[in-house]
Amino acid sequence: MSIPLPDLAAMDRLGRAIAAALRPGDVVALSGGLGAGKTTLARAIVAGLGYRSEVPSPSFAIIEVYDPPAVRLPLVHADFYRLKHPDEAQEIGLDDYREGAALIAEWPDHAGGFAHEPGCLSIALESAGEGRIAIVEGGADWLGRMPV
Ligand SMILES: Nc1ncnc2c1ncn2[C@@H]1O[C@H](COP(=O)(O)OP(=O)(O)OP(=O)(O)O)[C@@H](O)[C@H]1O
Ligand SMILES: [Mg+2]
Repeated sequence: MSIPLPDLAAMDRLGRAIAAALRPGDVVALSGGLGAGKTTLARAIVAGLGYRSEVPSPSFAIIEVYDPPAVRLPLVHADFYRLKHPDEAQEIGLDDYREGAALIAEWPDHAGGFAHEPGCLSIALESAGEGRIAIVEGGADWLGRMPV
């Protein structure tokens, strides 16, 4: 399904709707080129989970971890852009970080992709004029709780 995101307020609304539906084990896979809005949407999700401070972009650290009570559920926010090979996702311990947590993944293809997981919500962001469009697809676990 295709969702228009004409401005930052629309990004914030989508992020908060995703946060409200999110469960441990889920992946929100955010794809789209440089500047597509992946980190903007990720920040809206983290805020929607209750986080009250500034959300750093994980583009340098690769992984940022959020734990309750600052957020409603354990969360991993990852930016896999700098991985040179998908195997590196396992080498940095992604599976351990994900235990009991939800994952927001920027550049998911660089980690091998997550769309085969039933808990994966795939969001592809594209430019549309000054704003963006999101193409959203949910795995089987998202049936009946799609955020849009
Ligand atoms: N829906 C939108 N409408 C207008 N501007 C937007 C929208 N979403 C994001 N932006 C703006 O686009 C710019 C890039 O956004 P962002 O940093 O989230 O992209 P990104 O996909 O994470 O890029 P990168 O891969 O380079 O990290 C920011 O200035 C942000 O405010
Ligand atoms: Mg980014």
